Amino acid sequence: MKNWVVGNWKMHGSLSMVTRFIPTLLDGLTEVRGWEQAARVLICPPFPYIAPVAQKLTGYAVGVGAQDVHPLHQGAFTGEVAAPMLAELGVSACIVGHSERRRYNRESDALIGDKLRAVVTAGITPILCVGETLSQREAGRERQVVKRQVMSALKGLEPAAFAKVAVAYEPVWAIGTGRTATPEQANEMHQYIRTLLCANLSPEHGSATPLLYGGSVTPDNAARLLALPDINGALVGGASLKAESFLSILKHSLN
Ligand code: 13P
Repeated sequence: MKNWVVGNWKMHGSLSMVTRFIPTLLDGLTEVRGWEQAARVLICPPFPYIAPVAQKLTGYAVGVGAQDVHPLHQGAFTGEVAAPMLAELGVSACIVGHSERRRYNRESDALIGDKLRAVVTAGITPILCVGETLSQREAGRERQVVKRQVMSALKGLEPAAFAKVAVAYEPVWAIGTGRTATPEQANEMHQYIRTLLCANLSPEHGSATPLLYGGSVTPDNAARLLALPDINGALVGGASLKAESFLSILKHSLN
């Protein structure tokens, strides 16, 4: 399976950043032999920058992703963006259920499931984010929480459609804190998610699902995390805002 290296810019960036970042990334990639065969690389900028990023990436094997979506395909929902609109712009993946949206926008598991199905219907790969808070981990409830998040999001999805989904384990206590999960903690949860998927969907789809880790991934810890058998990529926040550090993580994913 290819290693996924996904940059989530969150609410950062500007047109001038796009103008500098993308050429630097593409230049850097020309020096990395064989990356297209080994990695799936995506940049998820804020909505207004999707079109300019997509335009600059035309003809390159770097994809553009979105950070959120509305569960319906059209309608009177002021300020919202629908999955077919994203598809039209060339978006190939969409983050769904990020913990920041669960927290600040009170997104429920049911809503996240609806968004996930809307994304799949539009032919876009959802990157379903799951992960426990610090207090949930301290109470020993991390598996229970992640199981609920995974199972409710995937409810009602045909096994064939599931072949499109990627899952990102992002422990909330590791996001933006500099406190990364240890490789053992991350791999243990990834193995658990894999077992869940195999048991509840099909062994075939469960073992083929890319499982990404996110939470304070940096050039310094990426190699150790990405070397683990059940970690198939990284969802990178802060360290994806500089082309140099994003490239460095990408290089570690190839080792
Ligand atoms: P950081 O890499 O900044 O911790 O963010 C992780 C994340 O939330 C990616 O979606």
